[in-house]
Amino acid sequence: MKAFVTGASGFIGSHLVDFLLARGDSVIAFDRRPPVQPVTFISGDMMDSESLRDAVKRTAPDVLFHLAAQSLTGDSWADPAGTFRANVNGTINVLEAVKEFAPGATVVFVSSSGVYAQPADAHPLREDDAMGPSTPYGISKMAADQAARLFAPRWNLRVVVARPFFWIGPRKTGDVTSDWCRRVVAMERGQAGEMAVGNIDVVRDFIDVRDGVAAFALLAERGESGLAYNIGSGTGTSLRGVLAALSELSRVPLKWRVDQALVRPVDEPVRIADVSRLRALGWKPQRDVRATLRETLDFWRANGQAIVP
Ligand SMILES: NC(=O)c1ccc[n+]([C@@H]2O[C@H](COP(=O)([O-])OP(=O)(O)OC[C@H]3O[C@@H](n4cnc5c(N)ncnc54)[C@H](OP(=O)(O)O)[C@@H]3O)[C@@H](O)[C@H]2O)c1
Repeated sequence: MKAFVTGASGFIGSHLVDFLLARGDSVIAFDRRPPVQPVTFISGDMMDSESLRDAVKRTAPDVLFHLAAQSLTGDSWADPAGTFRANVNGTINVLEAVKEFAPGATVVFVSSSGVYAQPADAHPLREDDAMGPSTPYGISKMAADQAARLFAPRWNLRVVVARPFFWIGPRKTGDVTSDWCRRVVAMERGQAGEMAVGNIDVVRDFIDVRDGVAAFALLAERGESGLAYNIGSGTGTSLRGVLAALSELSRVPLKWRVDQALVRPVDEPVRIADVSRLRALGWKPQRDVRATLRETLDFWRANGQAIVP
């Protein structure tokens, strides 16, 4: 199969490329920076619709995984308009390029769990639960998610929507688990002291990125066009639980304290996915949070840049 991956050089994209190569697919990586793997690389910006259309026309993929995005919720507060342009206009550019030059291709559009409203009873979120994002990033993903599902039948395209929850693992930077893993490794090297943490009672649905990209591939094959699928583990882990696991996995005693300045004014207390729709396609995660944390620690132990700035 010939797979075109936008955002191939990012955290999830790099693992998706590994997965596709391992099963023998040919991969075209489309990104602003080169991928780590030796695959066909098209250096481009999805906001430049002409070069995107040209890339899709030249390569005629069987499947297009659309991951490129302004992916950081924090940055979306600093630049809501830029986030909206990248995530909404960029997605429409991708869909239009496919409509014109690869109408037989399957598109897997990567949305986010950030589209959902916080339910009053904290039940595991289902795909038909109410939308109600709490960040500009979530609003942009909600709009793109709806555009993808609207355009699919109207343009006779096969588009499956993926809604990842909290993906963790080696190569991730800029989220709480990777920051903590880097900090632990810095402590092991004697380069850092006590770790300041925010609200550790929040509960999140963490899932290993490698289990997640396997789900993308499954959605490309068996997902129903126009439908959205949650991708999570289906279980919640508190940040307190993550700290406990890191304490056990650390080679030195882990020192931490709660810093009220790091407690966010608005933080959804519990975000867990209902993954029954995905499981019905035959998907099952292979790793638990502890195993992923162990591998993430090992990744940073082997990597020079362990200290969190
Ligand atoms: N990580 C998670 O847990 C999670 C959860 C829910 C949803 N998602 C979604 O999953 C997707 C991948 O996430 P990620 O964590 O891998 O993000 P990431 O590491 O930020 O990767 C995104 C990639 O897209 C590229 N990109 C951004 N704007 C582009 C543009 N205009 N043209 C071409 N390439 C562009 C980025 O390049 P630059 O580095 O130059 O910006 C980066 O290489 C995103 O759509 C994200 O919103 C992720």
